[in-house]
Amino acid sequence: MRIDVVSIFPAYLDALDLSLAGRARASGLLQVQAHDLRDFTHDRHRTVDDTPYGGGAGMVMRPEPWGEALDAVAGDDAVVIVPTPSGRPFTQRDAERLALEQHLVLACGRYEGIDQRVIDHASTRWRVEEISLGDFVLNGGEVAALAVIEAVVRLLPGFMGNPRSLQEESHGPDGLLEYPVYTKPAVWRGLEVPEVLRSGDHGAIARWRHDRALERTAERRPDLLERPDDHADGGGPEAP
Ligand code: ADE
Repeated sequence: MRIDVVSIFPAYLDALDLSLAGRARASGLLQVQAHDLRDFTHDRHRTVDDTPYGGGAGMVMRPEPWGEALDAVAGDDAVVIVPTPSGRPFTQRDAERLALEQHLVLACGRYEGIDQRVIDHASTRWRVEEISLGDFVLNGGEVAALAVIEAVVRLLPGFMGNPRSLQEESHGPDGLLEYPVYTKPAVWRGLEVPEVLRSGDHGAIARWRHDRALERTAERRPDLLERPDDHADGGGPEAP
């Protein structure tokens, strides 16, 4: 997979070298390139923003550098992703879908956002997805881009050491949050690992995990249980 990121702070993307994505890059599974939006300006001050038409607070990103940047980095097969708090919520299903693509281009806005014509024009040439990480506001799209990249890249075939861990995590195929997990020692600060997990009874362990996952989901994310599609009819991932 190829991923291009356009930003006025391309150094944000250096963090990708540290993470698992760094390994994917080293192994050739992934090529990531960060681009400085200011390299697509032509004035002495490398201006990327201006005051909003219609008035109001803050600055808006001008369309010209964005147009040139996207022309330069996005080929015909690209999906252009624009992180913004006004986007559709980004979910695990989106990560799964995007993991099947050849080329992602992440356009990281700052300030009050990018001139809408950039998105409208790009939509005539590429698939464009405006996505939000959640109901909160970041200063720019860079952190969101890192999150999207990590969520997608860990799903690339050959990336995870043990692909089964993808099956059993939160937002996996059963639609539930993940059950609590424990490791050694069996007793720590007086707190014991639940007996069933040490029993060796795989059926009982699967049932316990499924029950805890349901309990946790009901408490923290009841909205997930209301979705008609997957989950909750009994039997965890390991159940017969
Ligand atoms: N940019 C600013 N806030 C954001 C958010 N919540 N999600 C994605 N991109 C953003």
